[in-house]
Amino acid sequence: MRISVPSLPGRPGRTLAGAAIALAGLLAAASPAATAPATANANAPTTTAAAALAPPDIPLANVKGHLTQFQSIAAANGGNRAHGRPGYRASLDYVKAKLDAAGYTTTIQQFTSGGATGYNLIADWPGGDPDQVLMAGAHLDSVTTGAGINDNGSGSAAVLETALAVSRAGLQPTKHLRFGWWGAEEVGLVGSRYYVNNLPAADRSKVSAYLNFDMVGSPNPGYFVYDDDVQLEKVFKDYFAGLGVATEIETEGDGRSDHASFKNVGIRVGGLFTGAGRTKTAAQVQKWGGTAGQAFDRCYHSSCDTTANINDTALDRNSDAVAHAIWTLGTGVVVPPGDVYENTADVAITDNGAAVTSTVTVSGRTGNAPPALSVGVDIRHTFRGDLVVDLLAPDGTAYRLKNSSTSDSADNVIATYTVNASAEAANGAWKLRVQDIAAQDTGYINSWKLTF
Ligand code: TRP
Ligand code: ZN
Ligand code: CA
Repeated sequence: MRISVPSLPGRPGRTLAGAAIALAGLLAAASPAATAPATANANAPTTTAAAALAPPDIPLANVKGHLTQFQSIAAANGGNRAHGRPGYRASLDYVKAKLDAAGYTTTIQQFTSGGATGYNLIADWPGGDPDQVLMAGAHLDSVTTGAGINDNGSGSAAVLETALAVSRAGLQPTKHLRFGWWGAEEVGLVGSRYYVNNLPAADRSKVSAYLNFDMVGSPNPGYFVYDDDVQLEKVFKDYFAGLGVATEIETEGDGRSDHASFKNVGIRVGGLFTGAGRTKTAAQVQKWGGTAGQAFDRCYHSSCDTTANINDTALDRNSDAVAHAIWTLGTGVVVPPGDVYENTADVAITDNGAAVTSTVTVSGRTGNAPPALSVGVDIRHTFRGDLVVDLLAPDGTAYRLKNSSTSDSADNVIATYTVNASAEAANGAWKLRVQDIAAQDTGYINSWKLTF
């Protein structure tokens, strides 16, 4: 499945600056021209360059082809691909050969765990800024009880196929791209920990982000996004929102996969997960379909974790999400930034008095406001605890953003709130309502904005 990168909106009355700044830490300001293919027609419309940067649709058949190979490798090697067993090394050689043929610089990193030799595979895509390294990875080992096709052939194959898509596209990202396949995850995140521990501190600080994909094709799937880093989380949430697929925060064992190794040394992490041994609830079935009262993956760590243990739709969506994240974060294509409606006129706040409002008029949209309407508030005040702040929808419905507090003596309210505004029509006059409920300290609304 594909989502296109929309052209930047240019309707009057809104600015995009704020949303662009929100991702500035991760997104380099790429010039589309710099990454356009050499053969591009110089007179072509600018949308051509944007299209060249659009994330590809990762072919599900290719991802499943890798899973079939992992299954065969397990079958030929005693039924598993576990640390210290020949099926692991054969899996690694399979992935490495694909990457080598696609132009990657590959490195096998060897370590010892439990008396057995383990291996990580690192693949660097030549080019990009060496001081800004975007990493994605997956553990390649299985448990000893089975072939480990969902856990974690799925993540391994999704990352592999994304890496191959980078090569097919001839991508020239602004960031340096590095992909990792970790050994010995199932015996305690050993390979990924070895990798980060042996990465000099100077190199660690160059890793802008690490994205982890462990179990992304569970047969009774949920769509879980890691919430460790808000910006990385947003890249994935936006992707699924574009598909109209609800997501939840991953909670089935924080720290139970390789992202923990990176997070532990201060690297920003994100990732996706479709569920392991935990039971899917009725509410989750409402969102995602599937079977309530049954595990997301009934074959988790079992011999039945075979190619039959995969939900194709989940694997397809998550594979495309991997590519979306690599393209978005790696090439500087601005994520659909949202349309910003702002009022920068100052409004004085009456000391210990009646509420004041500032209005932002939204027009030209269809339907309702989003479930995660972003409300950016900039109020200058000498004692913010005095202030009660609400968002008023066009029909007058109030959403409390902030209560008063006698103990909160800090200055200013400069914050971004998220409001579930999905019950409200998008168009109309939205108001920020501010009331100062205690004497002495005063201030004004400096600006505020809604990001749809
Ligand atoms: N490979 C992990 C494990 O065996 C699977 C897992 C469980 C997981 N919970 C998770 C992966 C949460 C990511 C996030 O434990
Ligand atoms: Zn596992
Ligand atoms: Ca006051």
